[in-house]
Amino acid sequence: MAYAKAHEERHLRELFELLRIPSVSAQPAKHGKDVERAAEFVAAALRDAGVENVRLVPTGGNPLVYGDWLHAPPGAPTVLCYGHYDVQPPEPLELWESPPFEPTVRDGKIFARGATDDKGQMYTHIKAVEAHLKGMGSLPVNVKFLIEGEEEVGSKNLDPAVRAMRKELACDVVLVSDTAMKSEKQPAITYSLRGLVYFQVDVTGAKGDLHSGTYGGAAANPAEAIVQMLAAMKDPRTGKVRIPGFYKGVKITRAERAALAKSGFKDAEYRKALGMKALWGEKGFTAAERTSVRPTFEVNGIYGGYQGDGAKTVIPSHAHAKVSMRLVEGQDPKRIAKAFEAHLRKHALPGVEVKVTQLSAGMGAKTPLDSAAMQAAAKAVRATFGKAPLFLAEGGSIPVVATFQRVLGADTVLMGFGLHDENLHAPNEHFRVANFHRGIQATARFLNELSLTR
Ligand code: BES
Ligand code: MN
Ligand code: MN
Repeated sequence: MAYAKAHEERHLRELFELLRIPSVSAQPAKHGKDVERAAEFVAAALRDAGVENVRLVPTGGNPLVYGDWLHAPPGAPTVLCYGHYDVQPPEPLELWESPPFEPTVRDGKIFARGATDDKGQMYTHIKAVEAHLKGMGSLPVNVKFLIEGEEEVGSKNLDPAVRAMRKELACDVVLVSDTAMKSEKQPAITYSLRGLVYFQVDVTGAKGDLHSGTYGGAAANPAEAIVQMLAAMKDPRTGKVRIPGFYKGVKITRAERAALAKSGFKDAEYRKALGMKALWGEKGFTAAERTSVRPTFEVNGIYGGYQGDGAKTVIPSHAHAKVSMRLVEGQDPKRIAKAFEAHLRKHALPGVEVKVTQLSAGMGAKTPLDSAAMQAAAKAVRATFGKAPLFLAEGGSIPVVATFQRVLGADTVLMGFGLHDENLHAPNEHFRVANFHRGIQATARFLNELSLTR
């Protein structure tokens, strides 16, 4: 892949341009225009790479970017490259060492919001395709691109779009680079993602805040009610989720446990990395298992009542929480959502009003290890990184992967070039420069390897 090598500097410069666009999907009032600009930038990059039929596809929300190149020899497979051009909010700004939308290289790492999640990784696909088209004049496989702008806010408009475009998106393989390697020296291919359901819970009591001396003790306190309701979700001794039916259909095979014991981290080193005195979670499972193949319940935020300095004797009129559950194979998000809401309401105190709003939902996904596409990816990764990849179960979620499998019936390859320590969703997000370039090489090789599978 001499072409990609010769153009490394320009590729990095172009990525920086994309990283300068604050395409924060969670803040439409502030960044709606920037999201549009990022979509336009990606479309232009695809056109420059030689991709054809490039267009923005309007949705109920942020546009999709579509493009294709379908001139491979007869019988060659078709690959759909998926990624996202939207990013997480950069806040808290004061914790960034350099501004989030002014990409800077320090220590061989590109610091910017979206560097690893997912602009830097997504861009490797575009540059790999460019390397083929500009370097050799053609591609060994047919290629389609679908880059979305709402991944970080739950991809609400993507499922209907994928269904509507199912003919146009028809493919043999979906390639996603939005996951992590095990370490700098150990590349990986992800074979499993967890699903997710996310809720906002609003609890309301009396019509206004009350003096806790005059009124305390006579009516339910929403802050206390929400604590009771959330406490009912988990057994404090075993760490098991107490929602009835939560573990129905959840299993872990001996082979999977053995693989995790080998490829996963050790509890002790994990504990040290977190800077904690002890780990806690579902009894009977290691941290590596708890964070990848076991389902969880988490409180993401809880607020209500007086938050200022000093004491204020008051019974708040409302309290709120954000909660989510990571799901694994066998757990249908719809069923879990219903069971959660019923269990929550059962533990409410008399008199409070409970409002439950689902903010996002997505199925988990598993990809077979023995598909031709997976083997092609493993070869490409080994040739690029000089080491065979590990196959990892990821704790995070990319809901559209299950949709692709269901609607398009395609094999998925989750070939990620990020690292878990790259602060995705946090201040000082970064992406290793070397892995950006290797990502381009590995993707270009993957397309070659894939063409040999037919
Ligand atoms: N790229 C991540 C998924 C991911 C996280 C992969 C960690 C590897 C390691 C993706 O952009 C993401 O953040 N997904 C959300 C999904 C949600 C917004 C529906 C997640 O996992 O929280
Ligand atoms: Mn991502
Ligand atoms: Mn993300």
